[in-house]
Amino acid sequence: MKLLVTGGAGFIGSAVVRLAIARGHEVVNVDALTYAACLDNVVEAADSPLYSFEQVDIRDHAELDRVFARHKPDAVMHLAAESHVDRSIDGPAEFIETNIIGTFNMLEAARKLWVESGTPDAFRFHHISTDEVFGSLPADPGVQFTEDTPYDPRSPYSASKASSDHLVRAWHETYGLPVLLTNCSNNYGPYHFPEKLIPVIIINALAGKPLPVYGDGSNIRDWLFVEDHADALLLVIEKGEVGRSYNIGGENECTNLELVHTICAIIDRRRPKPRGSYADQITHVIDRPGHDARYAIDPNRIRKELGWRPSVTVEAGLVRTVDWYLENEAWWRKLLERHGVGERLGVRV
Ligand SMILES: NC(=O)c1ccc[n+]([C@@H]2O[C@H](COP(=O)([O-])OP(=O)(O)OC[C@H]3O[C@@H](n4cnc5c(N)ncnc54)[C@H](O)[C@@H]3O)[C@@H](O)[C@H]2O)c1
Repeated sequence: MKLLVTGGAGFIGSAVVRLAIARGHEVVNVDALTYAACLDNVVEAADSPLYSFEQVDIRDHAELDRVFARHKPDAVMHLAAESHVDRSIDGPAEFIETNIIGTFNMLEAARKLWVESGTPDAFRFHHISTDEVFGSLPADPGVQFTEDTPYDPRSPYSASKASSDHLVRAWHETYGLPVLLTNCSNNYGPYHFPEKLIPVIIINALAGKPLPVYGDGSNIRDWLFVEDHADALLLVIEKGEVGRSYNIGGENECTNLELVHTICAIIDRRRPKPRGSYADQITHVIDRPGHDARYAIDPNRIRKELGWRPSVTVEAGLVRTVDWYLENEAWWRKLLERHGVGERLGVRV
């Protein structure tokens, strides 16, 4: 299959590109190379004759039309987005432009190609979204997000993703475009940009710096190993039912504070301090405005209909992640120079 993957130089997109190439798919990686991108993420795929790259901003509809006309993909996996909630609080405009207008441009470019190709049944537009569109859950473990949970986004980021999800469904209902949607929980793993919680904790621990935990650290997330996510996305694009959405979770709920303690315990074993534990560096900092209390995915649809389950527990995935950061300092160290990285963002309201 010839896949056009947007955001393939980012964290999740690059995992999709690496896995798709390894499985023999042709991949056209479309990425504007924003501050969050790193072409090193796809270096192992870049030598393959199956891989090509287009540096294109999805806000530029004319460029997208050119890319679609040139490559004529069989399917689109749309991951390009502004993705950091804290940055969306400080500067929502880019989130509206990329996540909403950019998705509109993608839908129109895909629809044009699909119509000009004779509306093939096999064409797919797969939109990759987040569980954050569903809002915030109470602590009660019996309550989880299903595909039917009403949308209730509460940050500029999640509102922009919710808007893009609505556009994708509308293009299916109105124009018949064969779409698929997935809403997944928090990802972690290799190549995670060093402004997100898990890499920040690992990198600050090694540097002897404070380990920032927002508020009391009681916020609950369901952690999904990025390579499991990429595997689920490729399954959905091959086997998913057109017009349907699938929630993807890691079946790994824990509080942010528990997560940070687990990471510290792993680094304690891998690179022990002369005295004490890395957990001694944990520092509670002012909470994020509107910080959602809990996200949790009901994984039943993708499990029952497509037979997919995550392969990695959060403990095993975190060991792999910590080891990757210990072995790949050259990758993350240069990203620390990028604008805003290492600063506390999203508290100016
Ligand atoms: N990271 C998570 O935990 C998570 C969870 C659920 C859903 N998602 C969704 O998955 C997708 C990928 O997330 P990620 O964490 O890999 O993001 P990321 O920030 O690591 O990567 C985003 C990529 O998109 C590119 N991009 C941004 N704006 C662009 C534009 N205007 N034109 C072209 N390319 C552009 C960037 O250059 C970057 O390579 C996003 O749609 C996000 O909403 C992420």
